[in-house]
Amino acid sequence: MKTAITEMFGIQHPIIQGGMHFVGFAELAAAVSNAGGLGIITGLTQGTPEKLANEIARCKNMTDKPFGVNLTFLPSLTPPDYPGLVKAIIDGGVKVVETAGRNPAQVLPALKGAGIKVIHKCTSVRHSLKAQEIGCDAVSVDGFECGGHPGEDDVPNFILLPRAADELEIPFVSSGGMADGRSLIASLAFGAAGMNMGTRFIATKEAPVHENVKQAIVAASELDTRLVMRSLRNTERVMTNAAVEELLRIEKEKGDDLKFEDIVEQVAGVYPRIMLEGDMDKGAWSCGMVAGLIHDIPTCQELIERIMREAEAIIARLNAMQAA
Ligand SMILES: Cc1cc2nc3c(=O)[nH]c(=O)nc-3n(C[C@H](O)[C@H](O)[C@H](O)COP(=O)(O)O)c2cc1C
Repeated sequence: MKTAITEMFGIQHPIIQGGMHFVGFAELAAAVSNAGGLGIITGLTQGTPEKLANEIARCKNMTDKPFGVNLTFLPSLTPPDYPGLVKAIIDGGVKVVETAGRNPAQVLPALKGAGIKVIHKCTSVRHSLKAQEIGCDAVSVDGFECGGHPGEDDVPNFILLPRAADELEIPFVSSGGMADGRSLIASLAFGAAGMNMGTRFIATKEAPVHENVKQAIVAASELDTRLVMRSLRNTERVMTNAAVEELLRIEKEKGDDLKFEDIVEQVAGVYPRIMLEGDMDKGAWSCGMVAGLIHDIPTCQELIERIMREAEAIIARLNAMQAA
């Protein structure tokens, strides 16, 4: 399948693996890229330019296909060394960067100067248009269903994607709630040039996370995510567990007086314990409603091949309907 996104990134299939904290290591990025999609290493999980450079080198040892690096801009008391991370990306010969969070304008000149394509992840049409205006090459339009940070507008993809298609001139991919061939065809129907998946790629053989995380996703239904940190305007969609229920109790108790310090135990520094050690009740971890559509743990190759097979079958079915 050829789309503006496969052409722009030099990939075989219009499928991207979004950056994921403590999931997007070289093993997963390489597996997705080897399967013909675009794998993405999560820059901030590495933290320092040296470690990111090392992770990029590891990924290059595992694949000769294009892969990307995610740079997430979050409010932080001690901001990461973004210029250093950008230098590691450029020196590492990476060709695609997925930015997310705040406006990525600060890193665009360096990235664009090095010929790197930038896809910015946005949760609104407003932010997508801004990304287009500042010179991003593409956007990833992340609906309310998504795992992670859906923003504060709560517009689901059935509305958000066609709205983005009506307004944008640069190509975009759908993101949030995507799992299979149906998701891909629906995304194309809405005007996207491909799709981005997070949660679905965690439940794959190559995702270098604890088996408990994969089993939790397979066991979960579409009813098992919760929105946390709403009153801090830092909403995150996470898998429910004991820590998340406690977090929600604290949020209810504190109301508008909630401060980050009140929930630090449930949200700060919990990712390594959950993702690497499988301590599933340790805290809040991002997960999409799409968990309800995930029932197995295939290899990335099996997953992507299946998605493309399903997509072709849907196209054939639609064509037959038209011919009938
Ligand atoms: C465990 C997890 C961690 C994530 N971490 C990040 C991150 O660090 N930076 C980022 O831009 N997006 C992050 N995301 C969002 C994904 O890149 C992607 O946009 C999202 O998962 C899409 O929704 P889906 O899970 O329904 O596929 C994360 C998602 C998950 C599930």
